[in-house]
Amino acid sequence: MSVNVEFAPDGQHGVVAEGTYLWDAAKRLGVRLPAECEGRGECDTCAVALKEGATLLSSLTNAERERLSPERLAAGERLACQAKIERAGALVVEPVPQPEGTTMGDEEQSKSKDLRADFKGMSLQEKFATLVELEFDAMTSTFRAVSDAATAALGKGVDAVVGAGRERARRQRTARRPPEHTGASPKK
Ligand code: FES
Repeated sequence: MSVNVEFAPDGQHGVVAEGTYLWDAAKRLGVRLPAECEGRGECDTCAVALKEGATLLSSLTNAERERLSPERLAAGERLACQAKIERAGALVVEPVPQPEGTTMGDEEQSKSKDLRADFKGMSLQEKFATLVELEFDAMTSTFRAVSDAATAALGKGVDAVVGAGRERARRQRTARRPPEHTGASPKK
């Protein structure tokens, strides 16, 4: 079953699968939410306000109860990295504006610089893992298409590296999931 998600106020929208976190839905639809703790439920920068469809989401996690005040919870705010879409339907969400001095422009620019610097020093496998994590699927697909045209041996090597990168990215994503969703012990 799929879910229609729309991000206000700009109206980016699309269909995602049940089980998708709002944070991942935002990335897929081209909405860059701030994420100071990178999805670990340790900040509140990824907060979004639910305009429609709040009942489609997973229950509040401990991280959300700790990071969002009762007033913010009453106003329908959720942490995008903690809120999983569990039921089909239509959702409308709006990113909560960040305090001055932490605008997306500044943050994105600084992250982009850091990423470029880090990327230079990475091994090939780490570069692929990073690309996968950033959901640069188009880039890996293009690379694979090019490799298909090259020798079979090279193609197999690329598949192995891409596969290892995907597995690493999957493990990193799983490690960030709320303990309520993984059966792990809650963070202290
Ligand atoms: S990114 Fe920090 S709580 Fe979601």
